[in-house]
Amino acid sequence: MDKPIVVSGIRPTGYLHLGNYFGAVRNFIRMQDDFTCNFFIADIHSLTTHPTPENLQSGVKQVLAEYLACGIDPEKSTIYIQSDMPEVTELYTFLNMNAYLGELERTTSFKDKARQQPENVNAGLLTYPVLMAADIIIHKANFVPVGKDQEQNLEMARKFAKRFNRMYKSDVFPIPRPFTFDGADMIKIPGLDGSGKMGKSEGNAINLYEDPKSIRKKVMRAVTDAGPTEPNSQKPEAVENLFTLLKIVSTPDTVAHFDEQYNNCSIRYGDLKKQLAEDIINYTEPIRVRIDDILKDDKYLAKVAREGAEKARESAVKTLNEVKKVIGFNSLF
Ligand code: TYM
Repeated sequence: MDKPIVVSGIRPTGYLHLGNYFGAVRNFIRMQDDFTCNFFIADIHSLTTHPTPENLQSGVKQVLAEYLACGIDPEKSTIYIQSDMPEVTELYTFLNMNAYLGELERTTSFKDKARQQPENVNAGLLTYPVLMAADIIIHKANFVPVGKDQEQNLEMARKFAKRFNRMYKSDVFPIPRPFTFDGADMIKIPGLDGSGKMGKSEGNAINLYEDPKSIRKKVMRAVTDAGPTEPNSQKPEAVENLFTLLKIVSTPDTVAHFDEQYNNCSIRYGDLKKQLAEDIINYTEPIRVRIDDILKDDKYLAKVAREGAEKARESAVKTLNEVKKVIGFNSLF
């Protein structure tokens, strides 16, 4: 039986951080054997923030090296750069004809971005979910492993796929679903600044490529409070966030130890932070070393990108031909 198809991507807008890793990349790695996987670098999406050519190039190279260093295997998965597969922008154009201003304007990520960069509310931001839908359905994906922050974009992709099928009375597209292992909830990794999610532009992230000294500094500066004054009290958000990170990188014994100290009011946040920093370093250090090695090998990186693009385009061209046929293009020839 054919394996289910998977698509996911990351924008090359900076180093990958723990949110990208635990929200997305870790699942990519685990899925490689049992699914037909397509993992790409969303360089076209990143144009909404107007990177310079140099920043765009170095960002793409960095994410490619990071994908490989984390363990995405080009022998098992198709790894490619979005702009190397131009079929996706053609499908995006077709889907745009059935995407409505009202629904696009209501998308949370659009509203957030419009607030963050009022001087640059471009049409690409508005139609961001349409391009994302094209990324997913061009490979007829069944599953999309992403973090919680992408839930709404994925919901839009499902809507656009259904709408296309309905409109053209076809079943060209399977309806993609979010993916987590064992039916777990989609993940949101918090930042170190007390509230919200870890993000590249929020200045609250720890990168996979971060050196140990910097990790220690960032973790030691993380927001906490004055400490619990009553036994078994509820943790405020900032403290809960540190525990969330601890649960991800530390052993269950370590988590239980600090939980107990919190509950009997003897906790010293300095100790918790020291432990958290060391456990993050243990996790990321081997990846950082591999990233450095791979970044030196331009030839290998170019080969992975070229071969990935070839494989990705094969699948994209097939879908696009079907799409054009149902739309009515080519019908006179
Ligand atoms: P991007 O580049 O913002 O993030 C890449 C992936 O990392 C996840 N992520 C997080 N997960 C948990 N906690 C966090 N704090 C956190 N921060 C980031 C994101 O959920 C995502 O999975 N629109 C996408 C890129 C994209 C895409 C696609 C994804 C373009 N086309 C098609 C899937 C399928 C984005 O901006 O991701």
